[in-house]
Amino acid sequence: MQTIDHVRLSADETKLVILDQTQLPNRETYLELSSAEEMYEAIKKLRVRGAPCIGIFAGFAMFVLAQGLKQSTYEEFASKFRELSAYLNSSRPTAVNLSWALRRMERVVSEHAGMAPAEILPLLRAEAQAILDEDIAMCRAISEHGLSLLKDGDCVLTHCNAGPIATSKYGTAIGPLILGAEKGIKLKAFADETRPLLQGARLTSWELNNAGVDVTLICDNMASMVMKNGWVQFCFVGCDRVAANGDTANKIGTSGVAILAKHYGIPFYVLGPTSTIDMNCPTGDDIQIELREPEEIKTMWYREPMAPASVKCFNPSFDVTDHRLISGIITEKGICRAPYTESLTALFQ
Ligand code: MRU
Repeated sequence: MQTIDHVRLSADETKLVILDQTQLPNRETYLELSSAEEMYEAIKKLRVRGAPCIGIFAGFAMFVLAQGLKQSTYEEFASKFRELSAYLNSSRPTAVNLSWALRRMERVVSEHAGMAPAEILPLLRAEAQAILDEDIAMCRAISEHGLSLLKDGDCVLTHCNAGPIATSKYGTAIGPLILGAEKGIKLKAFADETRPLLQGARLTSWELNNAGVDVTLICDNMASMVMKNGWVQFCFVGCDRVAANGDTANKIGTSGVAILAKHYGIPFYVLGPTSTIDMNCPTGDDIQIELREPEEIKTMWYREPMAPASVKCFNPSFDVTDHRLISGIITEKGICRAPYTESLTALFQ
């Protein structure tokens, strides 16, 4: 049985234990969660984050919550289970892995109609474990495919954090760099700091440093300069939802990186598991973009407010990169190329 440190069950399996990502890189703090409200808050506040990791979290969360319902009749159990699932699903709208994982857990319940809830629990446990195990395998395969594009000395620019803690192991966008380091291949990285929540500064540079990758942190507005200087050979980014036409939602600022990469003739790749591809979503215009609180821009990270208290703020958490800017979408099944309507469809056949 595979396990990961940053999302795991407690020893008696009645709680969910997570590494609080908001405390990194300064403190490695673990939290024990047992109520639906605590779990909702952990997703909302980005204590647990990154599309695949949110899916893994949701699977184990539903197993933990289901234990509190085991005395009910099947009907009560199924109805309360669906209610809790909808509640967790409402915490963040953009990453499709959340609803995808919750649907898998709900399917276990609906496929065992009439069974005693206590007998459904081990099946839910197994499904959550399968979501984790599959993600570990997918991230490893994505990392191999990404690494096949790179050669010794190459430098990859990345945005946000699509590393081990955003997934299960290795990660997606920075998986090839971590795998490369394991294989002794000398690769370099620029990590965009990723305003406003600094996933690049706090998490990506921490993970790449720990993995022994030569990483340089830059502010988001420095990407153009390092590209112009010829210091970047590839851009690798993660994804929160890939639409059927290849348009891709990822952390705010990603589409700007793609536009710059196009201008400088640098290949721009999106890396993600097939669980992040939403074939029911025709284009990027159909992706709901999460809007977050102005405090993340105005006051967070600062000793005193850095903007007038009354000033209006626009704080979208993600943007959509047009599929025409994407050189390839790297999944566990290989590298999809344009036309994406065809290559993505082929993945599911
Ligand atoms: O708001 P976050 O930190 O959850 O946003 C995360 C990203 O945008 C990642 O790039 C994406 O989820 C892929 S993680 C493998």
